[in-house]
Amino acid sequence: MDDLSSIPPTFRGDVESILIPEADLQTRLAELAADVDRDYAGRDLLLVGVLKGAIFVMADLARHLTIPTAMDFMAVSSYGASTSSSGVVRILKDLDTEIEGRDVLLVEDIVDSGLTLDYLTKNLRSRRPASVEILSLLTKPSRREVDLPVRYVGFEVPDVFVVGYGLDYAERYRSLRDIVTLEPSVYGG
Ligand code: PRP
Repeated sequence: MDDLSSIPPTFRGDVESILIPEADLQTRLAELAADVDRDYAGRDLLLVGVLKGAIFVMADLARHLTIPTAMDFMAVSSYGASTSSSGVVRILKDLDTEIEGRDVLLVEDIVDSGLTLDYLTKNLRSRRPASVEILSLLTKPSRREVDLPVRYVGFEVPDVFVVGYGLDYAERYRSLRDIVTLEPSVYGG
């Protein structure tokens, strides 16, 4: 039985287990930030967070970085089935800035099929940036449908439904500090 004391009492009954505790998330983000610091030293780095899941990754990664960066955000919505990405992405909020000649790092919470990021990287490359790379806190390699190079990966996770630290189920649980799995009863299991 997991120690669920880090979960607010109102959510505790919904949580099955803690998959990645807050401390491990922060340690890994600091390591990734050190890699980014080294790789982008002296460059013009623009962090692009993909709303909404990436908000906490973006906030914590950026504060671990020591090189100067700019931040922007995109919001996208995938058409088709609600549980899996169709690969067709509608841009709900585009970048505020031009990216021609700049180094872009897409910041994500999770890469699942890879279709969202595949579309986004192609879209951004058409704007002639100096580079486009991907950083994702989580990846589910077993779910991948396209060959998508993810330069910086926090953790590989199995094909289980995870929430917390930005990830939601029906818009809930994003604010949890840990990455957790939910009791099956929460989603009708
Ligand atoms: C999640 C995640 C990625 C996408 C990954 O976003 O943040 O953007 O799904 O899935 P894929 O690799 O199969 O394309 P979601 O659509 O849940 O929106 P949210 O970030 O607002 O929660």
